[in-house]
Amino acid sequence: MKDFKDKVAVLTGAANGIGLDLAKTLIRQGCHVVVSDLNLEEVQARADQLEKMPDAKARAIGVACDVTQVAQIDTLAETAWAHFGHVDALFNNAGVGGGLTPAVKTKDADLRWMFEVNFFGNWNACMAFTRRFSDQGTPAHICNTASENSIGWPAPYMAGYNATKAAVLGYTGMLRMELPPHISISLLCPGWTQTEIAKSGARRPEAFGGPKPVRDAAPIEGEVTPYPVESVGAYTVEQIKQGAFYIFPHYAARHLAEERNDEIIAAFDAQQTDVDDWQAHDTRTFFTKMLAANQAKKDK
Ligand SMILES: NC(=O)c1ccc[n+]([C@@H]2O[C@H](COP(=O)([O-])OP(=O)(O)OC[C@H]3O[C@@H](n4cnc5c(N)ncnc54)[C@H](O)[C@@H]3O)[C@@H](O)[C@H]2O)c1
Repeated sequence: MKDFKDKVAVLTGAANGIGLDLAKTLIRQGCHVVVSDLNLEEVQARADQLEKMPDAKARAIGVACDVTQVAQIDTLAETAWAHFGHVDALFNNAGVGGGLTPAVKTKDADLRWMFEVNFFGNWNACMAFTRRFSDQGTPAHICNTASENSIGWPAPYMAGYNATKAAVLGYTGMLRMELPPHISISLLCPGWTQTEIAKSGARRPEAFGGPKPVRDAAPIEGEVTPYPVESVGAYTVEQIKQGAFYIFPHYAARHLAEERNDEIIAAFDAQQTDVDDWQAHDTRTFFTKMLAANQAKKDK
């Protein structure tokens, strides 16, 4: 997606934080935005505020959508297409944090809630919009919000959250290869950013145990400075225009990735057994051929 002017973008979880900053960036660039989140009044108010920004150059509507509900994702897509006639981008941003808890003390309800929002919500919206983007046939983009926790050194006391974000990395990489050429995809991996995420529990729906008390401040506040949320939106949109797959707005995440990757490669190098004939066992050969054969069938 080289240019967002006159395009239409749908954003999930966009009433606050990173999603809202992305919406501000897009509307400034002349891209109409469909702002979705859990609460209808809140998203309608956000849409109104976005349109009234002095530098807004496009329209905004608010649509309630709980991404854990497939029917609501379909309604979100239908409403966006019905209102604007086309949709060109999906920002799969909705996400929740379960607080800082040792893995063995993580409650089942919290783990399932985080997976339903961060992974299944992301996956289901991706699939619903991919089907429609395929039918529409014009250039389209999907930006999946993952995290520095998807690619880096695993943060203690966030085992459930880390697992959901690793899952987003896992499937987004596959989708990148399977999507038709007119649909591009990117993976946004922010570092620690000042948003409402530490208070996610206050909005936990009844189906996952209902609201739970949250601390006012995360314990690492005062020790480490979160990046401002304004560091994410414009940077991300620019990287999408440049064709990036991995989007890293924050350099602090680099050493986390380096530490994990260095350890993996060092382990391979220390443990080699089949250095001479590994090519015969390289599964990538099979999948690359399969992708090429399927593409050739489609091209006929
Ligand atoms: N803030 C960070 O440090 C950070 C770092 C890396 C990745 N992220 C990711 O960025 C994304 C945005 O988070 P944020 O930091 O802006 O948090 P935020 O809490 O400020 O915003 C997240 C929004 O998602 C909404 N939401 C929650 N459950 C939902 C559901 N079931 N359906 C639809 N919307 C739902 C919330 O109401 C909220 O408005 C998330 O995917 C998060 O995991 C955040």
